[in-house]
Amino acid sequence: MKDQYGRTIDYLRISVTDRCNLRCTYCMPEEGITCIPHEEILRYEEMEQICRIMAEMGLKHIKVTGGEPLVRKGISGFIRTLKEIPGIETVTLTTNGILLESMAEELASAGIDGINVSLDTLDEEAFRAITRGGDVKRVLAGLRKMHQYPQITLKINCVLGGKNWKKNAVSVAELAKNHPIHVRFIEHMPIGREPEKEAKREEQVRVVLETVYGPSILCEKPMGFGPSVYYHFEGFVGKIGFISAVSHKFCSGCNRIRLTADGRLRMCLQSGNSTDLKAVLRGENPEGLESVIQKSVYEKPREHHFDKESIETVSMSQIGG
Ligand code: GTP
Ligand code: 5AD
Ligand code: SF4
Repeated sequence: MKDQYGRTIDYLRISVTDRCNLRCTYCMPEEGITCIPHEEILRYEEMEQICRIMAEMGLKHIKVTGGEPLVRKGISGFIRTLKEIPGIETVTLTTNGILLESMAEELASAGIDGINVSLDTLDEEAFRAITRGGDVKRVLAGLRKMHQYPQITLKINCVLGGKNWKKNAVSVAELAKNHPIHVRFIEHMPIGREPEKEAKREEQVRVVLETVYGPSILCEKPMGFGPSVYYHFEGFVGKIGFISAVSHKFCSGCNRIRLTADGRLRMCLQSGNSTDLKAVLRGENPEGLESVIQKSVYEKPREHHFDKESIETVSMSQIGG
């Protein structure tokens, strides 16, 4: 699939549910969001149908997201189905890790290629505050369990903020020193809310890490298919990555589109424009799906405008990051 700017689109992020068992402050309002009614959520068979069509059009990589994808029943079976689609090379998952320990085995046997876990601090109280009630011990137990499955690439997503951000950066990065885990620091993005005044930029974080762990070397070879840029620190098993959508816009190399839980195809994380694929699928002419997808992809916007006033009204959990 190609867009009008010549970018190849071969990566689909599917939000399988808008529900979540946490309420991270930067992702959701405290009262939560109004959940999409069940009948409006795409069935797994419908998502599979869309993926099969896209795979014929050149889709290679699928990322399963949420809300929290592990709260949707049957998720491992769905991942197994995706893995069997001809043309699909990788299927990965992004989770908050709360249910990871109990589900690691079934995810591994479904053939998942990679798991990304959100973890902003190792401090129990701070984690509880950021996630509005989460228990970091469960996430750490999930990460420990994953060591039984070395074939699954393990990455951590860390959004820094607050007065202890330096301490959190150092302690979360330490996981990559001692374990085969890649730790990525994500710049806060103003999705569904005002820009974060406390947001930490890539350079600030790297200076702190270099003070503690010594100089870093940029990895020239890409790792995975996402926007993260990776660095090597001497003595580290895993890499340290940065996803800096605000300070280092990476839109010119964008390879992805998003399918929301209610069946809308979003061309950009930020842009509210989307195409209602569910209406086509459940309508009178489902054969028209391919050309609808083709047209939407072609019209994918050139770049995001986080720097402008256009603040999205949906929260990150409704898009899946
Ligand atoms: P892999 O490296 O392939 O595992 O994927 P990833 O890093 O893209 O996936 P993940 O779900 O872990 O996302 C990490 C962060 O990157 C989240 O905060 C996403 O919102 C953000 N992100 C992923 N893709 C994009 C994108 O196209 N644009 C922007 N602005 N942010 C993105
Ligand atoms: N800015 C940057 N990253 C965010 N995430 C959630 N909300 C935001 C935001 N506003 C991250 C989570 C999760 C990933 C899917 O998106 O930390 O790891
Ligand atoms: Fe849930 Fe992830 Fe949003 Fe946190 S960042 S509330 S874990 S969807």
